[in-house]
Amino acid sequence: MRHLLSTADLSRDDALLILDTAEQLSQVSGRSIKKLPTLRGRTVVNLFFEDSTRTRISFEAAAKRLSADVINFSAKGSSVSKGESLKDTALTLQAMGADAVVVRHGASGAPHRLANWVDGSVVNAGDGTHEHPTQALLDAFTMRRRLGDLEGRRVSIVGDVLHSRVARSNVHLLTTLGAEVTLVAPPTLLPVAMGEWPCEVSYDFDAVLPKSDVVMMLRVQHERMNASYFPSAREYSRRYGLDPERLGRMPDGAIVMHPGPMNRGMEIAAEVADSGRSTIVEQVTNGVTVRMAVLYLLLSGSEPAIGGNQ
Ligand code: CP
Repeated sequence: MRHLLSTADLSRDDALLILDTAEQLSQVSGRSIKKLPTLRGRTVVNLFFEDSTRTRISFEAAAKRLSADVINFSAKGSSVSKGESLKDTALTLQAMGADAVVVRHGASGAPHRLANWVDGSVVNAGDGTHEHPTQALLDAFTMRRRLGDLEGRRVSIVGDVLHSRVARSNVHLLTTLGAEVTLVAPPTLLPVAMGEWPCEVSYDFDAVLPKSDVVMMLRVQHERMNASYFPSAREYSRRYGLDPERLGRMPDGAIVMHPGPMNRGMEIAAEVADSGRSTIVEQVTNGVTVRMAVLYLLLSGSEPAIGGNQ
């Protein structure tokens, strides 16, 4: 495939190829080789219309570790503020020689549209409330490292599912890899149409907790929230927050994840986020490795293409 737009496009073999390639790349880095020459002469453009810390910086680090040239574009301070369209912005960047465009945009589907306009590869770095495929890949990579094969593993994804692109990408990827996924949220923070989501749904965190190998907490996305369907912060934390008492009721060996950024004290207590069961810092580290694998597979041309249907 030329692009990585959605985890729903990935077969099991595609997903395993990315995860296994990331594992190999991390072993190379582990031998103190800071930089590989693989993408020398290639240009990766980071095109960010929404704020980001982890994703933008880790794509930049990943591209640089593969010796690619990196152009960082932020909508703030660009000609977007003068009304330039996504298409004209993309064509301008292509004219500067982009081999890959990593795009984050507030509109669901923006990366798919971009893929029709540019010659290079497009990587979805988060589009609206739709998908965030590299986040799901780094999450699966982290789970595999901690727990081994994901076949039959029970993953609970808890919180603001309605606004979460991370949840949708994880549901598709984790079920493709054989995990059993349960979404846990108040009814007002679940999408109305869940028919196509291959997972269970629960409103009862305490019932799901003792059966979870992984508890992935989602950020409450206040910036996308309509106050009418959000319970009070106190009520939300009481019913859906992961605090030390709930942590103590998780099975032995179960792990706590969060894609970041976190609302400490809201969906996750600070003591839990900083506990030995938390993989939150590891997730950030693994994000660089997984994004190296994605760029490598899309741009190097030396491995089988991923996602044959694109
Ligand atoms: N997890 C994630 O996408 O974080 P950023 O918004 O900081 O990139």
